[in-house]
Amino acid sequence: MLSKPLHPATPTDGPRHVALIMDGNGRWAEARGLPRAMGHREGVQALKRTVEAAPALGINCLTVFGFSTENWSRPADEVSDLMGLVRTYVASDLKRLEREGVKVRILGRRPGLPADIVAIIERAEAQTAHNEKFTLQVAFNYGGRADIVDAAQRHVDRVLAGEATGPLDEKTLEAGLSTAGAPPVDVIVRTSGEQRLSNFLLWEAAYAELVYQNVLWPDYGHDALADVVEQYRNRDRRFGGRATPGAAPALAAV
Ligand code: IPE
Ligand code: IPE
Ligand code: MG
Repeated sequence: MLSKPLHPATPTDGPRHVALIMDGNGRWAEARGLPRAMGHREGVQALKRTVEAAPALGINCLTVFGFSTENWSRPADEVSDLMGLVRTYVASDLKRLEREGVKVRILGRRPGLPADIVAIIERAEAQTAHNEKFTLQVAFNYGGRADIVDAAQRHVDRVLAGEATGPLDEKTLEAGLSTAGAPPVDVIVRTSGEQRLSNFLLWEAAYAELVYQNVLWPDYGHDALADVVEQYRNRDRRFGGRATPGAAPALAAV
């Protein structure tokens, strides 16, 4: 008889918070001879599928990268297609997200965004603020460096206003990040085969597991997310400590 694993995986083994760099929309479209905008449109469908699949996999928070502070360097028509992601997804799906218990938070800088997008963001956050079942964070006009700078500046402003004293520490800086209040990021996933963070969640990445998948974002959904969960459960998170007894070694025995 096969010996049972010591700790059979259950949905409570995590990951609870999965962050996704949704990459490969352009390549998906180009491979089909379609305009890149079609890739972004299909990317919205993939995001819907992924949000729907997450709770049954034990995930209660998803953070997705929708538009980086560097994406402004793309041609103007593509920038406006990407702005359309918010209009088509957040605006049109708000009622459903609200009904399904999803709290929507938009991470990133608001100044510089079109006024109607800011209005959609504010409405989405206000209308879903009471929800607690699931959190969807969309990083939009977001950069990890900008977020850390903004958190530090918040502390400086509070010190100058006499509301805070003392040297800045990790806990204080963390409380000023746009992800403050969300559970710790367990795993950061990048699709499309690229292996870099591209300025996503730099602070939060400190001890997150990293998973790279070859799937292009418009093809994403339940199966790819389930694969992330499985990979995560085979990792041994040490946080600088010692290996958990019985955990699979990172290097295969030779
Ligand atoms: C990701 O797909 C979407 C965003 C950057 C918003 P890309 O547009 O980067 O697609 P590729 O990397 O060119 O294939
Ligand atoms: C990161 O992807 C940004 C988003 C997915 C929103 P990019 O496609 O912009 O990143 P690089 O340019 O390949 O590093
Ligand atoms: Mg890309």
